Amino acid sequence: MISVDGLTKFYGPRQAIKQLTFDVEEGEVVGFLGPNGAGKSTTMNILSCIIPASGGSAKINGFDIFEESLEIKKIIGYLPEVPPLYPDMVVSDYLRFAAGIRCVPKNKIDEAVEAALEKCWLKDVKHRITGRLSKGFQQRVGLAQALIHEPEILILDEPTIGLDPLQIIEIRKLIKELSKDRTIILSSHILPEITQICQRVIIINEGEIVAVDSLEGLTASLRKTERIQLSIREGQNQAKEILEKIRGVASVSQNDNGEFQIECELGSSLQDEIARTTLDNKWGLVELKQNAVSLEDVFLQLTTEETQVEL
Ligand SMILES: Nc1ncnc2c1ncn2[C@@H]1O[C@H](COP(=O)(O)OP(=O)(O)O)[C@@H](O)[C@H]1O
Ligand SMILES: [Mg+2]
Repeated sequence: MISVDGLTKFYGPRQAIKQLTFDVEEGEVVGFLGPNGAGKSTTMNILSCIIPASGGSAKINGFDIFEESLEIKKIIGYLPEVPPLYPDMVVSDYLRFAAGIRCVPKNKIDEAVEAALEKCWLKDVKHRITGRLSKGFQQRVGLAQALIHEPEILILDEPTIGLDPLQIIEIRKLIKELSKDRTIILSSHILPEITQICQRVIIINEGEIVAVDSLEGLTASLRKTERIQLSIREGQNQAKEILEKIRGVASVSQNDNGEFQIECELGSSLQDEIARTTLDNKWGLVELKQNAVSLEDVFLQLTTEETQVEL
């Protein structure tokens, strides 16, 4: 559905994105994850045909971003980082206006506005002035304008930025709802957002893709050790030394809560051995649990130690 090949963008001498290549299948919800300045907005602006690329190519439903931008604008709904609102306009008038510029046929505009209001839970505020709404509601209006022409693809640039926690939950819920019958590309610099909404993640750093995978795949492919967490009542001062001697233990450290983080070689299944050692030494076992490596760990690893990542 979306196929990007060697996409590059220069702002003057500064290269914002470098040779990006990726595909998005129909119906997928893909997360574009990267720190500020990674090139997320640039890529989304290019795919939405707002700014031109400097090189490479991208096709959306077979339409070329350089040659057929009008066709692409018909099938894409775009919510930029700052929603393109007119603060003096009443919500329903603004959506009517958005429908007009998105070439919704005149006799279908009322219907389209009603549908967008309904989908974005905006019915109660349709007579309100956009600029006086809370940020969460303004973001919903932004989403409604992106949806007004029933696009097959939604591109959402940091849709929850600047919202308070309750508003964030609402917008995420709304995006999840919308993802049921659409392809969505969503950018974020917040990991939990991506893990909650997306099936696949493209990690971008300094204009380059550093990983493309499913969330599970990414975590698994980067997991080199298993971490076991051990909490004991006594023997704190000798435990580290003794645990480190267990075969298959790579390292042992203690966190702020006094729990021991035991890094074990992958597949070594050392829970039994660690439990036995704890009992033999009469340390008083409080808790023993296996920690999965989180995507947060993966992300840090990817963006700070890229050279160690084999892709
Ligand atoms: N209009 C512009 N002119 C010059 N540099 C820009 C412009 N827009 C973005 N950049 C630069 O390009 C890089 C990528 O920016 P951007 O795509 O906005 O990243 P992100 O959305 O991931 O934070 C940054 O270094 C940014 O400073
Ligand atoms: Mg951005």
